Amino acid sequence: MNALSDIYTNLPEAQDPGKATPDAVAKADYTARHWSSPVPGPLKPGSVEHKRAVAEMFRETFNPYKPSVIEWPKLDADTLRRVTSLPIWDIAVQTEGKARLRMAAYARLIDDPDMKDALSRNAWEENRHKEVLSKMVEAYGIPLASEPTYHEPRDVEWAYLVTGFSECVDSFFAFGLFEVAKRSGFFPAELVETFEPVMQEECRHILLFANWLAWHRATMPLWKRPWFEIRVLAVWVFLVYERLGMAKTMDADGNVHEQDNNFTVNGTKEVASIDMPLRDFLDLCLNENERRFSGYDPRLLRPKLAPNLARFLRFFLPRTPESRRLEGQQAIS
Ligand SMILES: [Fe+2]
Ligand SMILES: [Fe+2]
Repeated sequence: MNALSDIYTNLPEAQDPGKATPDAVAKADYTARHWSSPVPGPLKPGSVEHKRAVAEMFRETFNPYKPSVIEWPKLDADTLRRVTSLPIWDIAVQTEGKARLRMAAYARLIDDPDMKDALSRNAWEENRHKEVLSKMVEAYGIPLASEPTYHEPRDVEWAYLVTGFSECVDSFFAFGLFEVAKRSGFFPAELVETFEPVMQEECRHILLFANWLAWHRATMPLWKRPWFEIRVLAVWVFLVYERLGMAKTMDADGNVHEQDNNFTVNGTKEVASIDMPLRDFLDLCLNENERRFSGYDPRLLRPKLAPNLARFLRFFLPRTPESRRLEGQQAIS
């Protein structure tokens, strides 16, 4: 049996260092946002065509950027203080550390070669995210808690579902938050640009997850479905519980750290120093979500729960000057 670190540190094909030239990275970045399967007709989950298209999408939209050559922009003292004091870096590093392991464990478990390939690549990319973060932490001198040991999950499917659904929710809000940080100038433009491929990569990841889930449901024997759906529901209960409060994490030296698991949901104040009405923030998340997914084959499924929840919530929130302005614009166009 492969060691999990073999999966998340090796791409199925050796990475050619020549591939990561600035030109190649720019080209790959474009492809990563514009992809369609050449196969005509519908792509029905459970069909060979759908499964192959999902794996091809993931392979062909790969971006060969290298964390070690990223140039971290110089930040002025004020920005540096704001960035380093965000309460998210520990949890971000640890989330990627866990994600690579959980995805690798699930990839090792499945037999289907196409899905195995896509999920192994996903694990590799999570490991690269971790490297990007460690390089950034190093460049800006962000103090980090010592990392705990990452354990292989005992219930591999459960761990993969938790990671997959968390990514779906977190990415949805992170897309909006990233845009707020960009507009407010909280992150200087160069830093936003540095992180942009990582954001788009998360969009690809949740696109893969939504399609893996549909494929998994469609191909599992019918008698297994009820149990699986109960587990999916339990994952959601767990995620809500986890996000309801500040999770406390214990580092390897036994110190307790307060970490904000909820940052993607309530971080607007910290990254914008403006009080953005929740309704406007949800609108922004919905628009960004739409924009990031718009370049992928519309026949592939999109994660639906977080956007639907946002639409539902939005319905109960009072209209704001910004939402009236947007509605006015829509009425004119
Ligand atoms: Fe990641
Ligand atoms: Fe991811």
